[in-house]
Amino acid sequence: MRVVMIGVGYVGLVSGTCFADFGHEVVCVDKNAERVEKLNNGVMPIYEPGLDRLVESNVEAGRLSFTTELADPVAEADVVFIAVGTPSRRGDGYADLTYVYAAAEELARHLNGPTVVVTKSTVPVGTGDEVEAIIARSNPDADFDVVSNPEFLREGAAIEDFKRPDRVVVGVTSERAEKVMRELYRPLYLNETPLVVTDRRTSELIKYAANAFLATKIGFINQMADLCEAMGADVQQVSRGIGLDNRIGSKFLHASPGYGGSCFPKDTLALSRTASDAGTPVTIVDAVIASNDRRKASMAERIKRAAGGSLEGKTVAVLGLAFKPNTDDMRDAPSLAIIPALQKMGATIRAFDPESIGEARRHFEDVTYADDAYDTLRGADLAVILTEWNEFRALDMKRLSDSLADKILIDLRNIYRPEEVRSFGLTYHSLGRP
Ligand code: NAI
Repeated sequence: MRVVMIGVGYVGLVSGTCFADFGHEVVCVDKNAERVEKLNNGVMPIYEPGLDRLVESNVEAGRLSFTTELADPVAEADVVFIAVGTPSRRGDGYADLTYVYAAAEELARHLNGPTVVVTKSTVPVGTGDEVEAIIARSNPDADFDVVSNPEFLREGAAIEDFKRPDRVVVGVTSERAEKVMRELYRPLYLNETPLVVTDRRTSELIKYAANAFLATKIGFINQMADLCEAMGADVQQVSRGIGLDNRIGSKFLHASPGYGGSCFPKDTLALSRTASDAGTPVTIVDAVIASNDRRKASMAERIKRAAGGSLEGKTVAVLGLAFKPNTDDMRDAPSLAIIPALQKMGATIRAFDPESIGEARRHFEDVTYADDAYDTLRGADLAVILTEWNEFRALDMKRLSDSLADKILIDLRNIYRPEEVRSFGLTYHSLGRP
């Protein structure tokens, strides 16, 4: 099939490349000329493990290309995906659909022959109806269907997730569109991946419900971590003890500084707005949002307490800046809330992240960036683990202890065993553990 992917970000680039790898002919279109030029020179605009090789092999095979020009690829396409950003609208938390509607407007006039237009962006219920209306208005002769096909991949494991998803969700309004979507994903359901075919509005809501549920699990275990601290219990054991119950499941039950990233914060907010407007508020999700905001904001205070009550004149080594490992994405990362708060408390920051320092430079002032984890410790009084990159999981504790003037390690990801760290003379603080 001939596929066009509009928007070559984390989702569009991975999805487009994987569809090409399935054997489809894919043209990826992005307005950002610099991004397209990089891709045409074999340089990845984002960090995602394994992506460079997969892009290269599909470009070489002639199935994948990148351009800023929409017209010809759309005219020739069987399927056109919209995979542009849907950030929070500044000030009110609704999903900003400007980019989605602009893409619909732009592609409409180039449609030629039967085409399925698919929203892969995460969009509120009813957006598909609006996309359909925009296209019909711009090009009354167009022969098209609008389908919802939300994406569930995780950054850092995006290729694996796209190629071996738990399920594919497709929201359709016609049999013709369903047939096309089944054909597009055929390599997956040959692998027995469940395909959930439903109506468009339900499909749009499934994506928000999934993200809100996962955010709720995180919010829940973080409150349990606080309770554990107050009661002298161990949240790791609580997670294991409840997670082994199949009805609960062990994933997303790790105590943390709060969820961040490009999806959960904005998607929970957008769902909350949709639900309030519909007169059926999702008060559980509202509570999760509020408790996550409080948690992120409380982390700097926690670090100050661990440092003995003052950070004035202290140098803090920060390990990890991205919102999670294996990505360079810093959107809504906990580091964005924590680092400026530490600086306000008088701390000097030395920081390291394997992939996101380039991005971090755009966000922070007066941060010194180190070359690796150990370089971060130079002249530092205490260290804070903010992101659980694998390379932080087996640090030389003797070296850490010798380097830190105050010998304090604050592990906001619980990646070490307390007794092990303490045996090196370090004072160790983690989340929800005695
Ligand atoms: P992104 O911000 O990384 O990429 C969006 C891309 O779209 C940018 O390169 C931008 O230049 C381009 N663009 C915007 N308007 C355009 C237009 N009119 N024509 C051509 N290109 C245009 O966004 P990301 O993270 O890939 O997210 C895309 C959507 O997928 C969002 O709705 C997001 O919620 C959803 N999603 C994201 C996931 C993630 O892990 N990042 C996971 C699942 C869904």
